[in-house]
Amino acid sequence: MSSTYGKVDEREHVMLEARRKTRKRIAIIAVSLIVLAIIVVGAVLGTMAHKKSSETVEIKNNGDSISASIKAVCDVTLHKDKCKETFRSAPNASSLNPEELFKLAVKITIAEVSKALNGFSSPGEEKSNITMSACAELLDLTIDNLNNTLTSSSNGDVTVPELVDDLRTWLSSAETYQETCVETLSPDMKPFGESHLKNSTEMTSNALAIITWLGKIADSFTL
Ligand SMILES: *[C@@H]1O[C@H](CO)[C@@H](O)[C@H](O)[C@H]1NC(C)=O
Ligand SMILES: *[C@@H]1O[C@H](CO)[C@@H](O)[C@H](O)[C@H]1NC(C)=O
Ligand SMILES: *[C@@H]1O[C@H](CO)[C@@H](O)[C@H](O)[C@H]1NC(C)=O
Ligand SMILES: *[C@@H]1O[C@H](CO)[C@@H](O)[C@H](O)[C@H]1NC(C)=O
Repeated sequence: MSSTYGKVDEREHVMLEARRKTRKRIAIIAVSLIVLAIIVVGAVLGTMAHKKSSETVEIKNNGDSISASIKAVCDVTLHKDKCKETFRSAPNASSLNPEELFKLAVKITIAEVSKALNGFSSPGEEKSNITMSACAELLDLTIDNLNNTLTSSSNGDVTVPELVDDLRTWLSSAETYQETCVETLSPDMKPFGESHLKNSTEMTSNALAIITWLGKIADSFTL
């Protein structure tokens, strides 16, 4: 008899144990679901809050406000202050989208290189010697490359992948020609060259960063 009781006890014990384990599993699953729900809700609210702030953002900068597009575009550049300053000097830049801002940046860079070129090719003065004219030729090439960039991006969509590649190539060349120009100068002329080309090299670098960024965004949409 006692053995039968023992068996019943044992079976009951096993069933109790099984029920306990099941309850534990259900509890774990429930807790996991709640945690998951909290994470999902948090992420959604976070994204919404982020969207809201980036849509309404108008950053005060030396009293001027800049648009969300200008902020986004300048954030990807190496010379952010120069970038904002470039767009601040242009009328209506705040109403442009990132692609239009890219074209505007290239246009302003062309004007800046042309201005710098005058400093290198001004006739007379002790400056107009061989290395200075080599530099001037390199700046002519810089302008050609920037001009290619601008004319190619003028009609429509700049984020076509093949076009992004071309634009990057021209802008990289424009960057290299300006650096080479400074390299060719004699040591005593280098500081002059560097300070003279500071604005234009920074702007070229910024334009390159902007088109690289636009290309990446376009890529991630077509994936
Ligand atoms: C700036 O915007 C105004 C009004 O939208 C327009 O009349 C003017 O031509 C624009 N200026 C430039 C440089 O685009
Ligand atoms: C060019 O002019 C600079 C500044 O006067 C001078 O230092 C440099 O030696 C000149 N170079 C040549 C090749 O005449
Ligand atoms: C840019 O290229 C166009 C056509 O290729 C030409 O008409 C224009 O003069 C060029 N501009 C500069 C600044 O070189
Ligand atoms: C560079 O830009 C600054 C600010 O716009 C300007 O004051 C300065 O004259 C520019 N330098 C050259 C060499 O053009």
